[in-house]
Amino acid sequence: MDKGLRGYLEQLEREKPEDLLVVDRECPADYTLTSLVGLLEEQNRYPVVMQQKVAGYDLPMVANLFGDRSRVAAMLGTTPERFAHEWQQRIGGLKSPRTVQQAAVQEMVDTDAVRGLGGLPVSRHFRQDAGPYIASGIVVARDPDTGVHNLSFHRMQYKGQDRFGISLHSRGHLWDYYARAEKRGVALPIAVVIGCHPLIYLAAGSKMAMEQDEYALAGALMGTPVDLVRCVTRDVLVPAWGEIVLEGEILPEIREDEGPFGEYTGYATDRSTRNVVQITAVTRRREALYMDLIPGYSSEHLLLGRMAKEAEVVSRMKEKFPGIRAINFPRSGTHFHAYMSMKKVAEGQPRQALMLLLGLDMYLKWVVAVDDDIDVFNEEEVLWALATRMQPDTGQFVVPAVMCNLLDPSSRDGMSAKMATDATKPLDWSMVRCTRDPQADDLAREILGQI
Ligand SMILES: Cc1cc2nc3c(=O)[nH]c(=O)nc-3n(C[C@H](O)[C@H](O)[C@H](O)COP(=O)(O)O)c2cc1C
Repeated sequence: MDKGLRGYLEQLEREKPEDLLVVDRECPADYTLTSLVGLLEEQNRYPVVMQQKVAGYDLPMVANLFGDRSRVAAMLGTTPERFAHEWQQRIGGLKSPRTVQQAAVQEMVDTDAVRGLGGLPVSRHFRQDAGPYIASGIVVARDPDTGVHNLSFHRMQYKGQDRFGISLHSRGHLWDYYARAEKRGVALPIAVVIGCHPLIYLAAGSKMAMEQDEYALAGALMGTPVDLVRCVTRDVLVPAWGEIVLEGEILPEIREDEGPFGEYTGYATDRSTRNVVQITAVTRRREALYMDLIPGYSSEHLLLGRMAKEAEVVSRMKEKFPGIRAINFPRSGTHFHAYMSMKKVAEGQPRQALMLLLGLDMYLKWVVAVDDDIDVFNEEEVLWALATRMQPDTGQFVVPAVMCNLLDPSSRDGMSAKMATDATKPLDWSMVRCTRDPQADDLAREILGQI
């Protein structure tokens, strides 16, 4: 049984065929998947989309694996409501990876990087993109001091030949690894994995302590150690069941323009750390699937980062505030907003919790606390709580000039103000919510034929 992307897709086809849309007609590599997924989203449909025939290329493309919250939860064998709990259970059992000598991802090895790259449908997604981009690449690198592996996502603009531009704007672990390598005057070896088991993608989108190996997290999520193989030209380990791997390095001391690219904020942006990658080899399966990830304000671009983040943040917050019920990073807030529901035990407690929440995630700009009778996954309920339980002069506070994500178009010099709003009702609140008569509801259901 294949332990990678195609194994997952075969399972999906068996268990939920309606979740897989296969397009048979030959279409261009550029723009097609973005339009298909975008138009489906407008109809509230979020299937995985497979483009079988890509004009000018031998490889099929597949995208939108992470477009649907229920499908992502099902990857962990659970429901969206139980996802945070299941995530916590699984990551308690970190599993060190094992190294194998032979791997599907090295069926074809091309150390002529230019030739190898020429066969891949690296494509444009939005009209404003500066060029073709790899949007689905997991960048694998090793800590220059400890050798631990880190996995993260970074947009990569194909500049031609063997060269890509890359942006490290989230200023996470890869950024830190690169800074240490550059200080020593050396390049940082990397591998870019395009297509592998989706749970490795979920692990790559999450944040662990710097000294922990993110392959062990992927193993924990999968319930079995991840099989890895050593790259051919660089000392980096990659998933043996992957589809395509680019080997190479991020060059020291070199900066080049990169972008614009359609980002999760919904804007095309050239804010970038402007780093440069040189590819040394391309390895892949003979009939590889080219996995794409629809960028911009797409459901999958936002959900892939969000679901692990919500699970991690809920668990950290619950350690200090057991009354926390749920946290939602709503899509409309593009990672900058979070809604938190809690059962407060003292006045002022939501404010204390909101400060911790802001401190846990640098992306957050506005955090809102509501009572536990509010469903934070229903944005209208949150807005209703804001409308009816909060006074703007006493209900919020602002912290100026805090580090933020560089891609917030309204931020200046890498900083943003942070706002916290307490929309919980006072403990001595006497207002009563209207409720319908339950017997009349039963009768109404009967009349409407819903019983
Ligand atoms: C779909 C997706 C695309 C991303 N693209 C970028 C990117 O282009 N540049 C970047 O610096 N961070 C990007 N990120 C954020 C990082 O990959 C993410 O924060 C990661 O967890 C960093 O982890 P690390 O601190 O362990 O390296 C992206 C995240 C997701 C989910």
